[in-house]
Amino acid sequence: MKRILLVVGLFGAGYCAQAQPAAPLKARLDKVALTVALGADGRPTYAVAYGPKTVVQPSRLGLSFADGKGFDGPLVLAGSETKDVDETWTPVWGEVKTIRNHYQQLTVHLRQPAAPGRTLDVVFRVFADGVGFRYEFPRQPRLQYFTVQDEHTEFNLPANHKAFWIPGDYDSNEYAYTTSRLSEVNTAPIEAIQQKADPKRVQTPLMLKSDDGLYINIHEAALVNYPAMFLNVDTKTFSLSSQLVPDATGTGAKAYLQAPEHTPWRTIVVADNAPAVLASKLILNLNEPSKVAETGWIQPQKFVGVWWEMHVNRASWNYADTSNIKLAGTNWKTLKNNGHHGANTANVKRYIDFAAAHHIPGVLVEGWNVGWEDWANNWKEEVFDFVTPYPDFDVDELQRYAAGKGVKLIMHHETSSSVTNYERRQDAAYRFMKQHGYDAVKTGYVGRIIPRGEHHDGQWMVNHYVHTAQLTAASRIMVDMHESVRPTGLHRTYPNWLANEAARGNEFNAWSSGNPPEHETILPFTRLMGGPMDYTPGIFQIKLDDWNPARNQGKQVHTTLAKQLALYVTMYSPLQMAADLPEAYNKHLDAFQFIEDVAVDWDDTRILAAEPGDYLTTVRKAKGKDEWYLGSITDENARQQPIKLDFLTPGQRYEAIIYADGPGADWQKNPMAYRITKQVVTSKSMLKLQLAPGGGAAVSFKPVRK
Ligand code: NOJ
Ligand code: CA
Repeated sequence: MKRILLVVGLFGAGYCAQAQPAAPLKARLDKVALTVALGADGRPTYAVAYGPKTVVQPSRLGLSFADGKGFDGPLVLAGSETKDVDETWTPVWGEVKTIRNHYQQLTVHLRQPAAPGRTLDVVFRVFADGVGFRYEFPRQPRLQYFTVQDEHTEFNLPANHKAFWIPGDYDSNEYAYTTSRLSEVNTAPIEAIQQKADPKRVQTPLMLKSDDGLYINIHEAALVNYPAMFLNVDTKTFSLSSQLVPDATGTGAKAYLQAPEHTPWRTIVVADNAPAVLASKLILNLNEPSKVAETGWIQPQKFVGVWWEMHVNRASWNYADTSNIKLAGTNWKTLKNNGHHGANTANVKRYIDFAAAHHIPGVLVEGWNVGWEDWANNWKEEVFDFVTPYPDFDVDELQRYAAGKGVKLIMHHETSSSVTNYERRQDAAYRFMKQHGYDAVKTGYVGRIIPRGEHHDGQWMVNHYVHTAQLTAASRIMVDMHESVRPTGLHRTYPNWLANEAARGNEFNAWSSGNPPEHETILPFTRLMGGPMDYTPGIFQIKLDDWNPARNQGKQVHTTLAKQLALYVTMYSPLQMAADLPEAYNKHLDAFQFIEDVAVDWDDTRILAAEPGDYLTTVRKAKGKDEWYLGSITDENARQQPIKLDFLTPGQRYEAIIYADGPGADWQKNPMAYRITKQVVTSKSMLKLQLAPGGGAAVSFKPVRK
């Protein structure tokens, strides 16, 4: 059901040319107020306030073009309009059943006097929880093909806020967050793998907290046909300025556009409490409605996979002994099996059996196709063809076996960043998938983009990801992209695009210094603001030495086991992996019950307590059921979380199953101690959850049948 209220008002007498500087233009909704003005120098600025508090001081807008006649100099105000919109819409899947889209829009028409005939619109939308704005280039004779050389959007912050940031690497978001004042962004220590990044530049979503109690998130919405926006930090004035990812030509060009066109929305979410930031739907609201007409085939789901066993060095992606590496033209059937290839038919059947026994709909298989002997960093364009299985992976037999057990196999397409190769082969690859019963694919872009060294976050790759979402949708395939640009809410438009990685996932615990215990309390405020993440929770065997003592020495997941359960709720995604091996789960089937039960699609979500970097408690109502699931997590500090159960239906009795850290649990010293208790509760009950250092708790609530 859609409800629309549309009021259009005009500033002044209709659409009028004004002498400048004109009186400031204003829009507001509840506490959020926007002011747009042309300065004495003719340059446009915008400012944002939240009640009496300043969110953004007057800040520059503008773009320069390669032809020197962009919109970066003095401009003329050619008119403006406002309109109010209040509607609700229903997402195909999500955290809530319906979403209200309520805003006041201000459109500002600008002319470029130095290039007569060139016009630019800046469109602002003011919501109760922030502001979005974008640059629009209407169809016009004097602006057809043009190259954006730079965007000059600024966010002048009034003070030295606390920031949760990762450095400005155009090819990766896989960093642990640093928490520092903006003035310290330059100087905060950067770990070794971050050397590629410019230390004065940070990525979005950028989470900020002001000393006067505001929580502010800066990001973008609907990133299409344009590079991602990074932020240069002025550590003295606390001004952030947009930095677009350049292309590979070395000319500094950022985006090649044709009018009519527009940029993505620049977004500023603001609230006076942390939970409200997590509840914001501003970014989704700024994205276009679904372009996938029929969506019944799109299924939020859990999956297991032949995956973690490779990351913990128990199995390999490659089939052959790597001393046998042969390049193009290799007859794979002649190569010798290395004896530990993970994607072999018998092993895949083991995962299918486990999935079927525990109502897990999907099984991912990595390393099924030829090419893994020399896939990474080899700079070759032709590595994978996406249709040739290794000799020990019987694609027909597995199709038959999975179908017989009611399980769906999930395809893996590691492109090794040879994107031109992938694009040439996508049609055939998706046909092959459909012929063999696959309707979901995990793609990956490890390494430098081949052939030209484009950046993962530049316009060329942004278009590839969107194109892949469109192509997969046309074949009724769901997609999960790893190493892609971070999301910007496009899953509203392409609901088959279930998830992305685009951040530092659980896997880092297997082969690096890992993720600090606070990591998962920050991700919802940063990376997840743009969309769901394939974080791969659910690791039960926390200490990884057990799998391979020689190669995993000292490696461990930086949480307790109970916290791994809580992540299924606190880390929203319609696609959730149960990432550990069946043999790890078989030892703890009582705890696995939570993973089996927890939903992946929701009618309602409440953030009960949150503070970035410290803790998060979320409760969600399963789609179409009176069942609730709660996750509560903490950083390295133990905490007690009192929970009022007033979200439950009044008068109904529920069985609560509480999966908590056990006595003496501690992410380092005793991570696998957990305790499961049951109790009958109502909406009037309270729970006191005791979270261990690096710990968490998960609770399921199901109605007690009368
Ligand atoms: C990195 C991905 O994040 C991971 O999930 C995958 O297993 C490897 N690349 C190999 O493609
Ligand atoms: Ca902390």
